Formats: sequence, C-alpha cells, structure tokens
Amino acid sequence: MPVIAIVGSQWGDEGKGRVVDYLAATGGRNGGPADMVIRYQGGDNAGHTVVNALGEFRLHLVPSGIFTPRTRCLIGTGCVVNPETLIEEMDSLIAVGLSLDNLYISSRAHLTLPYHRQLDTLEERARGGKALGTTQRGIGPTYSDKAARWGLRVGELLRPDRLRDRLAVCLERKNPLIRSLGGEPVNLEAMMERCLAWRDRLAPYIVDTVPLTRAALETDQTILLEGQLGVMRDLDWGAYPYVTSSNPLASYGPVGAGLPARAIDRVIGVVKAYVTAVGAGPLPTELHGEVGETLRRIGNEYGATTGRPRRCGWLDAVALKYAHWLNGFTDLVITKLDVLDGFPEIKICVAYRLPSGEETDHMPDPSTLDEVEPIYETWPGWQCETGSVRSWEDLPLAARRYVQRVEELVGVPVRWISVGKEREAIIAVNPGL
Ligand code: GDP
Ligand code: IMO
Ligand code: MG
Repeated sequence: MPVIAIVGSQWGDEGKGRVVDYLAATGGRNGGPADMVIRYQGGDNAGHTVVNALGEFRLHLVPSGIFTPRTRCLIGTGCVVNPETLIEEMDSLIAVGLSLDNLYISSRAHLTLPYHRQLDTLEERARGGKALGTTQRGIGPTYSDKAARWGLRVGELLRPDRLRDRLAVCLERKNPLIRSLGGEPVNLEAMMERCLAWRDRLAPYIVDTVPLTRAALETDQTILLEGQLGVMRDLDWGAYPYVTSSNPLASYGPVGAGLPARAIDRVIGVVKAYVTAVGAGPLPTELHGEVGETLRRIGNEYGATTGRPRRCGWLDAVALKYAHWLNGFTDLVITKLDVLDGFPEIKICVAYRLPSGEETDHMPDPSTLDEVEPIYETWPGWQCETGSVRSWEDLPLAARRYVQRVEELVGVPVRWISVGKEREAIIAVNPGL
C-alpha cells in the first residue's frame, strides 16, 4: 500500500487538514482507514481545520488523522514542537472523547521553547516596516537553533540531567540576545520546572520513530504524509525572505518523516479554488477591492492560527505549475469551489508580464514577484449553489469547465473537489485511491 504526501500547492491554508482527515478515514486498504499519518515539518504555525462528526477543530501540531482511532498519528522528526500548545491541543481533543492512544511524538523533533516565541516577536519588532508577518510562534528561532546546533530535542525531556546542562549553555547564549532586543531573560530553574512538567505529560507519547515507520513500510501499510503551509512559503523555493523556516515540499516528507526517499508513491497537491496568503510578501493576483473582500467574507478567510484576515486573489496557474514541477503531483484536490458560486465571472492568472514587457508562464524567482503583473483569462461563473452537490455530474457545467481548465493548465488530474468544510463535502471525481 502506498505512501501518499498531501501538500499545499499555494501560500498555505489550502485545506490540507480536511483532506488528511478525509483520507485518514477512507484512503486505506479497501476504502478503510489509513494506517498512519505523519506531520513531517513545521510547528504550531500550522492551523489545520477539520470538521467532522465530532465537531470543528483547528489543529496546530496533532496530525489531522487523529479522529480516526485506527490511524496512528506521528508528529515527525522534521517538526518543531511547542509542548505547551501541544498539551493544550491534546486536552481539547480528550475533552471531545478521543483517547489519543494513537498519538506519537518523535524523540528527534526539536522543542519550541518560550524563548523561541519571545525571540520571534522581538525579531519581528526589530525588522520594523520590513517585518515578515510571521505567526510569532517561534518557528524561525527554533529551526535556526536546530541548524546552528543550539536546539533541544523532545527526547531530551526524558533525560533531565542532560537537558539541564544543555539548557544552561543555551541560555548563556540566548539571554544576552534576548536582553539586547529588549526582552526578559529566561531563568534556568524556572525553565527546568516547566520542562519536567511537560515530560510528565508527554513521556508516554515520545518514541524513536524508526521502528514504527519501518514496520509500517515493511508491512505495506498506507502512510499519509501531512504537509504544513505551501510551496510559495518554502524556505528554499518560496518568496525569500517571506517564507517559513522549513520545507513544505513533498520531497522533504521522507526526511521529516524518517522514510527512504523512494518510499513516496503519490503526491496530492491541495489547491484552493482561488489564492489566499497571510503575512507579508508578494502575491501577484491579490485583489484589493470589492472582489477580494467578497472572497474573504464568503470564504471566511481569517487565519486559523492568528485570526489575521487573509489576503485573497484569483487562482494563479503559474504558481501551480511551479508547485507541480517542484512536488511532482500525481493528483490534485480542489477545495472551496463553493466559495466561487456567486461570481458572474472568474479569472485565472495564466502568465506574468515581466518588467521588461515580456510575457511568461514560467515562474521567475518568487522573491521578484512584486515586479510582475498577472495576465488573466476570464471564465463565466455558474452563479448557483454547489455546497450540497455530491457528484461530479451534478456540478454546474461552468464549474466543471473551471475544474477542467485547472487540470489542463497544471497537467495533473483532479481527483477530488470540495464544496464545503465538512468531511462529507468532498466529491471524488476519479475514485481509485
Ligand atoms: P490548511 O491549513 O491547509 O489545513 O487549511 P485551513 O484550515 O487553514 O484553511 C482552510 C479553511 O477553509 C478552513 O476554515 C476550512 O474549514 C475551510 N474549508 C476547507 N475546504 C472547504 C470547502 O471546500 N468549502 C468551504 N466553504 N470551506 C472549506
Ligand atoms: P498552514 O499549515 C498560512 C506564514 C506566515 C508568514 C510566513 C512565516 O495552516 O497552511 P512563520 O511563523 O512560519 O515563521 O511565518 O509563513 N505562515 C502561514 N500561512 N498557513 C500556515 O500554515 C502558515 N504558517 C506560516 O503568515 O507569512
Ligand atoms: Mg491553515
């Protein structure tokens, strides 16, 4: 059975969480549950909304397969874990009756500690008018520490003596920096006390992931790799510096999950039927007027983590083709098609005009996207309600044409369309997972 990566193909918030929830319940052998879901990068900057029979949830760290009890859910090595938010999230899930017996946390994942959050906020402040608009969840500072070898890992919570030694050295270095940026220095003993409390709570879930993923692969289980954010915010391939500090690309999946590179069988690109972004940085198709407002209002486009209004615009096929080149999509899911129901016409950006006047459908370095002008083609809207539609044939013709045009532009089959936030509002176009 396959290893399937589910990744964001735009600027994040495409609906990855709800797709993972759906496939965890139905994407395994004979339409049964998938065996495993692994979050492979990012931290609690993620806000993955899931709506199912248990209610509506905004998951930040716990993988979106958690609602399917037979699906083991692993917070993988490539993630950064804030124990405080994780415990809060676990409590909220236990409160609706989940056992969390199917939750695992990689001992090798890095810890996001309170000083990482503090530094994220202070660094954003220090950037002044050039702030990146991060989620201020400490993601950049945690991954910086990981790369610079100052990081502390989840497994170290289980070895308090070692943790104290390493934390003491880290704080000697961090505290002057925090002070220089105008923040409050961190007290070692107070920090250790919190670490011990986190250890008491999280210890049963912390694992060496290798035996787990190896056994899953060797026994032919279905493993879903849940990406965070989207390609346009990828550390290497996004609009640097307006990016996150990890790689949402599917090719990072095996690294962050602990699988061999050749393990991935399918890569599902999640495509919102238009685009949204939170935070600063170029967004070529952004709509500043009434149409953008309408998309935000109907799509309820407010950040699942920070509550910030999302910037909205028409679908950008140049960015989608770039996402396909980098990810190698085998399938697409189009989400939020219902949000376009009322528009008399719908645009798709098919090329950019460069400052030289030249037109191209090739993505330049995304950090130069503030210089391009989108070139659109216009499609007639369908102007009727699709939220209750449950089959491809029942979708209005103009909606099917829009979907087919996306398929044609990207060159990848659309397997599912989503017309509502609930689990059952997903239409299988080409069943066959
Ligand atoms: P993620 O970060 O990629 O998991 O996406 P988010 O959860 O941040 O944002 C997606 C938002 O759109 C959430 O509020 C979802 O409930 C909502 N959503 C997802 N799919 C659909 C859909 O097909 N129709 C509508 N109307 N809402 C959807
Ligand atoms: P999901 O997984 C949308 C954005 C921030 C900022 C940039 C860097 O729900 O799609 P960071 O806090 O990562 O250092 O911020 O990335 N960002 C997201 N935008 N969805 C997310 O996650 C995001 N995670 C980070 O707004 O522009
Ligand atoms: Mg989100």
